Amino acid sequence: MMFNILKSTCLILLLLILASCGAQKELTENQLSSTVLDIPTYNMTPLVKDLMAKMTLADKVGEMTQLNIDMLSVGEPYNLVIPNKLDTAKLRNILVDLKVGSILNCGGHSYTRAQWKNIITTIQDYAVNKKSTGIPVLYGVDAIHGTNYTRGATLFPQQLGQASTWNPELAIECGEVTAYETRASGIPWAFSPVLDIGRDARWPRLWETYGEDPLLAKTMATSYMYGMQGDDISDPEKVATCMKHFLGYSVTLRGKDRTQAWVPTRQLLEYFAPTFQAAIDAGARTVMINSGEMNGIPVHVNKEILVDLLRNKMGFTGLAVTDWEDIGYLVSRHRVAKDFKEAIGQAINAGIDMAMVPLDASFPVLLKELVEEGVVPMSRIDESVARILLVKEELGLFEPMKPLDTYTEFASAKSQASALAAAEESIILAKNDNNILPLDKNKRILVVGPNATSLNSLNGGWTGTWQGTDTTYNTPGKMTILEAMQEEFSSIITAEAGQEVRAASRADAIVVCIGEMPYTEKPGDIDDLDLDDDQIELVKSLQATGKPVILVAVEGRPRTMNSIVDESAAILVAFLPGDEGGPAIANILSGDTNPSGRFPITYPKSSNDLVTYDHKGTDLVHRDFSMDAFNPQWEFGYGLSYTTYDYTNLIVLPNLNGGIDVSVTVSNTGTQTGKETVQVYVSDLVASITPSVKRLRAFEKVELAAGESQTLSYSITKEDLSFVGRENKWIFEKGDFKVAVAGLSEMISL
Ligand code: BGC
Repeated sequence: MMFNILKSTCLILLLLILASCGAQKELTENQLSSTVLDIPTYNMTPLVKDLMAKMTLADKVGEMTQLNIDMLSVGEPYNLVIPNKLDTAKLRNILVDLKVGSILNCGGHSYTRAQWKNIITTIQDYAVNKKSTGIPVLYGVDAIHGTNYTRGATLFPQQLGQASTWNPELAIECGEVTAYETRASGIPWAFSPVLDIGRDARWPRLWETYGEDPLLAKTMATSYMYGMQGDDISDPEKVATCMKHFLGYSVTLRGKDRTQAWVPTRQLLEYFAPTFQAAIDAGARTVMINSGEMNGIPVHVNKEILVDLLRNKMGFTGLAVTDWEDIGYLVSRHRVAKDFKEAIGQAINAGIDMAMVPLDASFPVLLKELVEEGVVPMSRIDESVARILLVKEELGLFEPMKPLDTYTEFASAKSQASALAAAEESIILAKNDNNILPLDKNKRILVVGPNATSLNSLNGGWTGTWQGTDTTYNTPGKMTILEAMQEEFSSIITAEAGQEVRAASRADAIVVCIGEMPYTEKPGDIDDLDLDDDQIELVKSLQATGKPVILVAVEGRPRTMNSIVDESAAILVAFLPGDEGGPAIANILSGDTNPSGRFPITYPKSSNDLVTYDHKGTDLVHRDFSMDAFNPQWEFGYGLSYTTYDYTNLIVLPNLNGGIDVSVTVSNTGTQTGKETVQVYVSDLVASITPSVKRLRAFEKVELAAGESQTLSYSITKEDLSFVGRENKWIFEKGDFKVAVAGLSEMISL
């Protein structure tokens, strides 16, 4: 025993000495040595070891390259022939000669399953049968709210909508269906979920997040991931997920995509890292890096983030892929490198494993030169290649692929039902004066507004195409809000744009569908968060008719609309409910479905007052002279129902682990079945750094029949109550806490 300890101590010492020698050698040998890795954080299976032993440097740098399918297709990038046709010479050059190991996405728009089958089998034939290593290609796709690049796939609400359901079961179902339909397209790797926390309403990718709260986001994310990955990603009905976008991407200073972010370490650790940590713990095998720069350093060259934090502190062992063209942007946007080659050296030495250089096949050639010139150490290459090969092995890519025609459940009725349930539960009833909703099915209802007739607006970006604006790729048979209303109600009135007020005279009620048209990333940047003037004017003119106006907001971020809220009789906020959004909205308006969505973000009242629910300091809900006046349109967690709930018996006790046990009884006091989201908030009254007014510490969505009650219990641990303190470390401080559930609250001293 003693000998063994001695032996291992000696071995560790020897390794340390060797490691430090290596590091010193590299220090003298190359300019970029300060970023050289010294701790290998990868595993070698026998297969990976065997493959690596046989691979040349060219084989290895090829594995680290990811190109877009444009590079294999007939035509020019962004201008391919339609329908897509693979180009034999390009296939040979890219896959066999350059040995490129990963391909992504589609050439501009979604493909049919038959097209995918041809694409994937052809690509794998070149990789496995014609390339010297025989290593299959790792194909990745943006499957964001379903398999949105395969025609006819099941399309769920976007992530913000999924978060509005507060229902992790639905996130699991979304993951299961998406994994199945992605594999049915021959693709084993999905670039989702987005784990960035959505704390800036202006950001054009807010709707791609699970909202502003880390607990809600990590619960939804890990549920979705479980649906996607199951217990084994080699299962031909499961895929590998990709954590996006590590780290600090969502909180730029200006609210615009890919602009500078300044994120202090404390906030980074407390708000932005926990979703990634939860995903790593839940078995995430791949990560995509933040395109932007944080605190003046592009994340793609930031070893502190990519190695010290992601690998050494958070324990991630999978593969890290760049985001789109981001090595090139180190030159053109960030100006930290003078040319592409220098940028490659910086990024690889900082810890990037795979480069998404979608349209630039010079990457493997230049990386090979960098290794030969001693700028990038071979150890760095081996580490990345081992990680990539391991993921390929874990995905079962070295085994024969399950025949794609055997995925008979693609877009099945069951999957569509899941998408409808998720869409229904994602819709938030934000206002319902005098219970004007639900509407009688025989009432004469005028349905107008720009979003009434646009299926694309219900889906948002990443639908058929990147921006989601091209109607050519819409799923046949899916309904707009107007079409779904016409199915659901007997007397729907329509009106041409400009004729709405005149048509209102014939209506008992007016449903105005407002919001945004699809976008994502840079094209979605805005200069003003207010809802467009013409929509505000349309709503005001309809309100002036005296007929009850019901707003339906279809939008990816909370466009401020305070001037039309008071005069609206009812408001539904639908965010981006997906292909089933039309029927879901119609079902809620008619009362066939009882709404149960809750805000996953704070809905601001004005564009100069963007504050999250868990802001610091006091909680004064007044426009007074207090520093922290908090006056949102609707608060995080808020949402109405067609039934009513009552909370009683809040019991709060210290538990054995030093945390808090909470129990509460919730009763459905109304006349119909409903789903209520029980939310437990804890306020730390005094702390060594300014505490948040409150933090969500537990939640659960429960279904209750009319008259039914349920007593629910939650155990909140000390860790749940901890925060990142002055030393930038997680700490728990004893003291007084307030626990609040709905209108009830109790104090407790720990
Ligand atoms: C986006 C990523 C996406 C990637 C591949 C990038 O522009 O930021 O979220 O996965 O493109 O399409």
